[in-house]
Amino acid sequence: MKKQLIFILLFISYIIYSIIIYTKGTEEKVVVNVADYASIQKGKALFQQHNCISCHQLYGLGGYLGPELTTAYSDANRGENYMKAFLKAGGARMPNFHFIEKEIDNIISYLKYVDATATTYKTKE
Ligand code: HEC
Repeated sequence: MKKQLIFILLFISYIIYSIIIYTKGTEEKVVVNVADYASIQKGKALFQQHNCISCHQLYGLGGYLGPELTTAYSDANRGENYMKAFLKAGGARMPNFHFIEKEIDNIISYLKYVDATATTYKTKE
């Protein structure tokens, strides 16, 4: 009888724990401006076509030659203009993809969106 009670108690705890974990994870919604949507999509396509993930990580996944880009947009030491400079001219190891201005804007929109979705990824201050 004691064993059954412990089992039931653990099972209920598990259910409650699961409900909390799975609903909390979907709490924070990122609202995307409709006008930005097309640009984000194009930026994502460019990011995939040029295989940026082979050198950069998003949400902790990807290559390690380049820096992690998930929160680059809101990073006080990097941000939009810093990223644009690399996308325009490349770096010592970062290739120059010869993007046109519009493509750079699209990639920035995409990385801005990624940054906005990385709510649990950012270290809380
Ligand atoms: C061959 C590996 C490689 C590829 C492919 C690559 N990068 Fe990079 N990237 C780097 C490295 C390394 C740096 C750091 C600067 C340097 O050493 O040149 C960098 C820097 C950057 C930066 C500046 C941010 C920071 O924190 O320094 C951005 C933004 C960036 N890359 C975006 C991209 C995008 C977008 C793509 C795909 C279109 C891409 N990279 C493809 C290697 C790469």
